[in-house]
Amino acid sequence: MYLARLQRLKATLATAHLECAAAIAGPNLYYLTGLSFHLSERPTVGFFPRDGDPVIVAGSLEEAKIKNGAPYGVRSFVYGDADGPAQAFMQAAQALKLNKARLGVEARRMRVMELDYIEEALPGLAAEPAEDLFAALRMTKDADEIKAMREAVVIAEKALAATLPQIKVGLTEREVAAELVVQTLRAGSDADLPFAPIVASGPNSALPHATVTDRALQKGDLLTLDWGAATRRYFSDLTRTFALGEVAPELKQIYELVKAANAAAQAAAKPGATCASVDAAARRVIADGGYGEHFVHRVGHGLGLEGHEEPSMHGKNEMPLETGMTFTIEPGIYLPGKGGVRIEDDVVVTAEGCESLSTYPRELETIGV
Ligand code: CO
Repeated sequence: MYLARLQRLKATLATAHLECAAAIAGPNLYYLTGLSFHLSERPTVGFFPRDGDPVIVAGSLEEAKIKNGAPYGVRSFVYGDADGPAQAFMQAAQALKLNKARLGVEARRMRVMELDYIEEALPGLAAEPAEDLFAALRMTKDADEIKAMREAVVIAEKALAATLPQIKVGLTEREVAAELVVQTLRAGSDADLPFAPIVASGPNSALPHATVTDRALQKGDLLTLDWGAATRRYFSDLTRTFALGEVAPELKQIYELVKAANAAAQAAAKPGATCASVDAAARRVIADGGYGEHFVHRVGHGLGLEGHEEPSMHGKNEMPLETGMTFTIEPGIYLPGKGGVRIEDDVVVTAEGCESLSTYPRELETIGV
């Protein structure tokens, strides 16, 4: 499998007129090698030349991992803390034999530190942004990746089911977040959660990217939980909004609109439909309901080894969907000072349309009183 991924990368390098691609510790390096490295002050860089075996530069503690875990021939050059990485990068450069080459790099991920070492070791090199190339490799998921994401969704939904009975008026957002994190780990998530959960109550739920506060939950609040789990490094990312007792009629009204918008977007997602058309399907429902200006973000984002990846499900993305693409559908309405609603599912494009991996009910549920 990893060899097939490497060959796909080499084919795209040729098309993009790049001699080599480089990936630092993180999802692209993991996708291509199955090796996990921590991002730290010690640089780890994998070089994937069009011709010849890949080369990895890493700290000496990683040597055994590379030797024992590499799924195909890899040449590794390691360094100790006292010597520093410069010499290992020089050796890697000699092994790669890249002269005035075009090197594809992760422009949004690679740090100045890694690029400095690379440019010093490979003078005359031209570093080119290659985010699109990596994204294209990873955008459609194979059956095993979808299985991992399905498991991550099941874990997140189990965690929610275990948390909800604990939620009571008077608890703070922070206390709810703590419970949700504990239950997510208990349900089987990798310890590296995809992101810190959002627990947003009352007026805070009107902030799409709210951070957890010490606000105590009150009767009449909407409560938005946005959380995820990870299995084998694949993520889930879900959101549900709940009512703490009876909520104002307008809040119920926006809830029903968001639910309908989520359903419309799911119905629109199918092979050949554009990302923009999925966004538009949700937006139309909310605009027709009179709340268009309060749906302030794209309808969703790609999901997989990263919490946000391609495809971006925004209104100007004319990329057609393909079977195996995975992304979130998460329309929302946010009324400043009053509250907000978001309903987020993780979906996979199938031959017939799209399947939601998440199945937790979307009806407004009253809890906590
Ligand atoms: Co999301």
